[in-house]
Amino acid sequence: MDAAEIDLIEKTGLSRIESAASLDDLRAAETEVLGKKSAIARLNTRLGSLSPDDRKAVGQVINHARARLQAAADERRVALGAEERRRRLEAERLDLTEVLPGPPTRGHLTLITQTRDELEDLFVGMGYAVAEGPEVETDWYNFEALNIPKAHPARSGHDSLYFEWGEPESTLLRTHTSPVQIRVMQTQPPPIYSIMPGKVYRKDTPDARHTPSFSQLEGLVVDRGITFGDMAGTIDTFTRAYFGPGMRSRLRPAYFPFTEPSAEFEVTCAICAGSGCRTCSGTGWIELGGCGMVHPNVFAAVGLDAEEWSGFAFGFGIDRLAQMRHGIADMRVLLDNDIRFIGQF
Ligand code: DAH
Repeated sequence: MDAAEIDLIEKTGLSRIESAASLDDLRAAETEVLGKKSAIARLNTRLGSLSPDDRKAVGQVINHARARLQAAADERRVALGAEERRRRLEAERLDLTEVLPGPPTRGHLTLITQTRDELEDLFVGMGYAVAEGPEVETDWYNFEALNIPKAHPARSGHDSLYFEWGEPESTLLRTHTSPVQIRVMQTQPPPIYSIMPGKVYRKDTPDARHTPSFSQLEGLVVDRGITFGDMAGTIDTFTRAYFGPGMRSRLRPAYFPFTEPSAEFEVTCAICAGSGCRTCSGTGWIELGGCGMVHPNVFAAVGLDAEEWSGFAFGFGIDRLAQMRHGIADMRVLLDNDIRFIGQF
């Protein structure tokens, strides 16, 4: 046994420790290099055959070699521990930031909300107040008080969505904004000049011209001596204000249970400017909504005297109005969140 042999054992041991690839591997390396069956441990057992002086000197050399091996193992353990922690943190990192290319962009209101706001401003400018009502309604407000009794054929046109609540078919998602007329008349005495915008719901399959949820704007005027002419003038004024002075509106006889007489109002087709196209079926006109003089039965439902008061009401789809002004072929894009569409308004 000489210094060269001890030196070789130390060098071999050091390279084994330094090449340990993981903490587990390092544990195995320590057993191999420093354990009971290691080369260095076997050297100790051979010390017995040396003279006492040699034994002391060689023993010291072996001990120093062992201490250096242990120090190298400790150092490797610290390095591997740090490396493994770093790798785990990297693997488990949660990236909570979303990096978008370019500067951040600001969102804006949807086209429907913009249209609703614009219409509200327009009517407020004409002296109207804005009222709202619940989207979940009772049969009485949605139908009965509006002169649409049970079994009335007008009900079938509404494709109502009912709740399983109370009596069967007693509670529903409102199919139009007209029930808010009733609520307004119940809570404030005339004169009333009010608009009532809001969402309505129908059991419709979505297609180019229908969506199961859409927005309507209802108007109600109740005062003394209100005439059909006042109504026609009001409708013409707001349609021109919204679509521009080149637009004309007209009334056609129609039927609604809650108004008498009733009419449908139409505007010049914005797609062809009135010359006739596919959208307006060649007529040059597009139907926007309904209107009429408040029916005496509706006044009776809210306890107003039809001899003293008269009034008109109208209702139309806000979505339809926006669709006309902006030439939107398919209504469904109004509900999709396609940024290529939304970004245009
Ligand atoms: N509520 C009707 C509908 O949804 C629209 C309507 C027609 C409202 C005539 C009115 C009106 O106020 O007078 O089809």
